[in-house]
Order: sequence, then C-alpha cells, then structure tokens
Amino acid sequence: MCGIVGYIGHREAVPDILKGLKALEYRGYDSAGLAVLSHEEGKVKCVRSVGRVSALESKLRENKDLSGTIGIAHTRWATHGAPTLKNTHPHFDRKREIFVVHNGIIENYREIREILEREGHKFTSETDTEVVVHLMRSFLDDGHTHKEAFLKTLSMIKGAYGLALMIRSDPETIYVARHSSPLVIGKGEGENFIASDPSALVHKTGNVIYLKDGEVAEVGREDIRITDLSDVPAEHEVVELERDLKQVQKGKFEHFMLKEINEGADVIRSACRGRLRVKDKAVNFGGLRDVRNELLKIKRIIIVSCGTSYYAGLAGKYIFEEIAGIPTEVEQASEFRYRKRAFIPQTAVLAISQSGETADTLAAVRVAKDSGILTLGLVNVVGSTIARETDAGVYNHAGPEISVASTKAYLSQITILTLMSCYLSERRDQEVLDLMEAIDSLPKKIEEVLSRSKDLEVLADKYHKYDNFFYIGRKYGYPTALEGALKLKEISYIHAEGYSAGEMKHGPIALVDGNFPTLAICLNNGVFEKMRSNIEEIKARKGPVLVLSNEGEGGMNDLADDVFHIPRVPEPLEPILSMVPLQLFAYYIGVKRGVDVDRPRNLAKSVTVE
Ligand code: AGP
Repeated sequence: MCGIVGYIGHREAVPDILKGLKALEYRGYDSAGLAVLSHEEGKVKCVRSVGRVSALESKLRENKDLSGTIGIAHTRWATHGAPTLKNTHPHFDRKREIFVVHNGIIENYREIREILEREGHKFTSETDTEVVVHLMRSFLDDGHTHKEAFLKTLSMIKGAYGLALMIRSDPETIYVARHSSPLVIGKGEGENFIASDPSALVHKTGNVIYLKDGEVAEVGREDIRITDLSDVPAEHEVVELERDLKQVQKGKFEHFMLKEINEGADVIRSACRGRLRVKDKAVNFGGLRDVRNELLKIKRIIIVSCGTSYYAGLAGKYIFEEIAGIPTEVEQASEFRYRKRAFIPQTAVLAISQSGETADTLAAVRVAKDSGILTLGLVNVVGSTIARETDAGVYNHAGPEISVASTKAYLSQITILTLMSCYLSERRDQEVLDLMEAIDSLPKKIEEVLSRSKDLEVLADKYHKYDNFFYIGRKYGYPTALEGALKLKEISYIHAEGYSAGEMKHGPIALVDGNFPTLAICLNNGVFEKMRSNIEEIKARKGPVLVLSNEGEGGMNDLADDVFHIPRVPEPLEPILSMVPLQLFAYYIGVKRGVDVDRPRNLAKSVTVE
C-alpha cells in the first residue's frame, strides 16, 4: 500500500529516486518524502511533503543543496496515523543518523513503543514504522554493529514489512528487509536500486532480485549481500524483467483508466495467444503442465480473491460449473483466511490477483498450502509473490495496469477462467466449440462497443449528478452488477450498490424513488423476462432505469429511460462484454465529477496490507 525506493551508486540519487517514486504512486499518494546522504558534509538531508509526489518535487526545488549518491524515499498510503507531515516517511532518530522507509504494518508496534518510551525514547509520529528507528538507535547505542542492530530490530517486530534503512555513518550501504511486503533489488553497473516493485527501476535496469520473506540485504554500489535473519547467506537469482514495463505511457488518452479500458480487446487476444486453438478444439496452458494430471482429478475448486478479482471469480464460478461441471466456491480472501476450513480431497484453490501482491489473497494461498491443497494462481504481474508461491498458474499477460481501478485485468481474468473451464473439461460438444469460437471473435465485439464510447459519455452526462445507484443482474449478470457498482463507487464516489435482481423485492426496492436510478443488465438470455419484471417494478416506483441490453431487443426502449445495446455472445462471455460499457460509464461519470480517476481518494492499486 506504500511505495519505497532506494538508490546507491555513483550518480546523484535524487533524479532516479523521484522517477521511481512517481512509478509507485499508484501504491499510495497521501504523502511522500526522501532522504539523501551527502558525502561532503557527512550528513543526511531529508525532505518530506503531504500529498502527491509532485508536491515533494516542488519542495525539492527550494532545497537546491540536496546532493548525494545514496538515498531512500517513500510514497505513503496512510495506515497508522493521518496523512500529515510528521507521519510522512522517511522516519529518523533525534541524532538524524538512522533513516527508515517502510511498506507494511508492524502489528506489535504499540508494545514496542511503550517499552522504548519507558526507556526515554521520544516519538515524533503516530506511525508504526517509527519503532524501527528507535530500536535501531537502542541497539546501536548498545554497541552493536549496523547489521547486528538491523537483525535484532527485525527479530523484535511482527507483521508485514518491506524496509529500507540508511545510516549516516555508513555511506556504502542501504539495509533492506522483506516480510510479506514486496521488495526488489535492481542490479546496475556500479549502482543498485531498491523498490517495492520493478516498475520503479525498470527505466534503469532489467535485472532484478526478488527478496523473499525473511531475507535481509546489504546493498552496496557493487555488492549485494543477502542473508536470512540469522545472518546466514541466502541463495538468490537475478531475473530479467519483462521489457513491456517500459511501455507504460498514457499515449493519446487523458487517463490510464481510459487507455486500459481501450486495451480491452487486446488483452483478450493476449490471454488467448498460444493457448486457444479453435481449429484443434484445444486449450493449452504451459503454466499448468506440471499439475495437469492432478487437475484432471479435481473435484472442487475454491477461488480466493479480493475486490474486482473477487467478482471475476464469481463469474468464474458460474463458468466452471456450467462448462466443466466442477463444483466451485468463491471466497473473499480476507474471510477465507480466518475460517476453520474442512477441505475435501481433490480440491484446488485458485488465487486471482492482478498485482499478485494482495496481502489477503497471499494469506489465503498460504492457508491452502499449509493444508496441503494444490494452489493455482491467475496473476497479471510476472514474478509477483502470489505467482511465485502458488504451485502452478497462468499469467494474464495483460500488460501493466496502472490505474487504481482494475478494468482490462477483469476482462482478461474472466477470459482465462473461461479457457480454463474448457481446459479442465473433456467436453468438446457444440456448446463448448461455439464458446471457443465466440472467445476468438470477442475482441472484435469489444472494439465495436468501444467505438460507441461517446454514447456512454452522453449517458454519464445525464446520470452523473445522482448520489445513489443500483446495479442489478441475474446469473452472469449478477457479478457484472457487483463489479459495475464497484467501478462507479471507486471512480465517482457515488454510493452504488450491486444486487442480484431477485433480491430487490426482499428489501432494497424500498430505496427506489425518482432520485435513485438503477442500471439493469437485461440481456437476451434465460433470465430476460425476469429482468424485465424487475425493471417494471422499479419504473412503477418512479425509479429511473438505464438498461444494458442486446441489439434487436426492441421492447426495452418503451420501458427504460435509457438503453445501451451490446452484441450477443454466449452467456459465459456476457460478464466480459457487458463490463466494457460499465467501465466507460463509470469513467466518464468520475471525470464529470472532477475525480482524479487514476488515483481516487483513499485507494491504492496494490493492497499489500491486511
Ligand atoms: C479494483 O478496481 C480495486 N482497485 C481493487 O478492488 C482490486 O481489485 C483488489 O484490491 C484486488 O487486487 P488484486 O487483483 O491485485 O489482488
């Protein structure tokens, strides 16, 4: 939920650190700060500011003498303590010798703080992170070496951390450590980089080391020494980054969100590339090859995920059960991880995560692994923790998704879930073959819908002033309703509720009046008539209704206030095609309401805290 960056080398640290911070702003943007160690004066300059990295940049322009070739920085999503200057990282001790940036949550910080305050330490912030500074201070004052003090500090703290620490008297080393919060080290020529994720350093190096949980690194200009918490050297490998991280630009689009919505067709193609062979009636996943035999015996699938990925999982449930005939549960990872589970044999847990770093989903994977259950990942970010910790998995290859609101990843997730259902099923009857054909031709239908984006902008103009919204659907329209409502909530701050349409009469319809519009997913499928009744019930109570329907569905025009048509597809693909207009609708409403749609308030792209 926060982003940390570090540089140690032979060049000025600030430019690369700032560039890295900007790349990580999607992880949190409540406040930002950096600390640079200047050799000449042998002191550390620290500049911090509330708000976006741009505010820090403005402050840096007033601090011309910020020079040095080693530095650390942080962009914050507030967990403990309001987004104020005193809570902004880096945190440092009263002697201004120890500087720390942290991503994660130290769960036992209160107890540690009480002990340290009793020993006379003066805290200046409300953050959990500050205990690291004072523990280091305490151990250094006891005569321990820098590394000993760092290891002792880490042995005291419980919870999640990605940490980078600099010591004024040690201009040759940045100390880093990782537990549950991601941290990568980028290897350069005579210089090295640290970041919460590779997007912050890919502009300088494609060679990274993913630090593992419980590992500590001393990062110098040349050497990188990685050990465990007992200072025993740890094996590590340098991996080559996917080069497409370099192409993360908005291009002709005003926002990353609009760019990524417009990549919807391409991500379907990427999801299918090398996997779907319609002529051979085959689907193949290289990433599942090693567990193929085990998968063919699977009797139950449990999907664990959060947010938009959870709604993709909900659609996946319907698809797995309809196409592969495998009983499938979908669980919010944040709940799954706490429930006493009774797993039945031949169960597979499938974790869906765009970032591959969501703490709750990672925790759910670990619960499943500890129970001896086969774990699979459906992940977009290559090399991410969930991708590495699951037994096998499939990458979306959707390219970096920068906007906080997940859009193209959702389309890719459901596409791959549909392909997986064909992969797991022996069925090659006409329904399945038609489905494969339909997946193959889906990108063109998405492009057709995208070509009518302006119609969604017109509808957004009409509906953007409402403060409440219902989204309702049945069967495959139900996850669509939930995800459509989440998009509107996230991007416009309108109170949008997704509901299964059948539930409306059991209470929610009490809210309907002329100021409470409903978006109804009413496609020409087995639940069309039931959805039509829902619309009539809402109209009878003067509720404005915007309907998502299929072309050629005449009758809707005389019933609804507004209709947006999409091409027909087999029902399992409806959640994909239906979402494109809903994403655009939310986007245009957010823009019309003046929201920074790529960085909505209170949110972050990757929720690496629990
Ligand atoms: C989606 O628009 C949200 N930003 C959020 O719900 C997100 O889907 C959720 O945090 C899960 O993220 P993940 O897919 O990276 O695990």
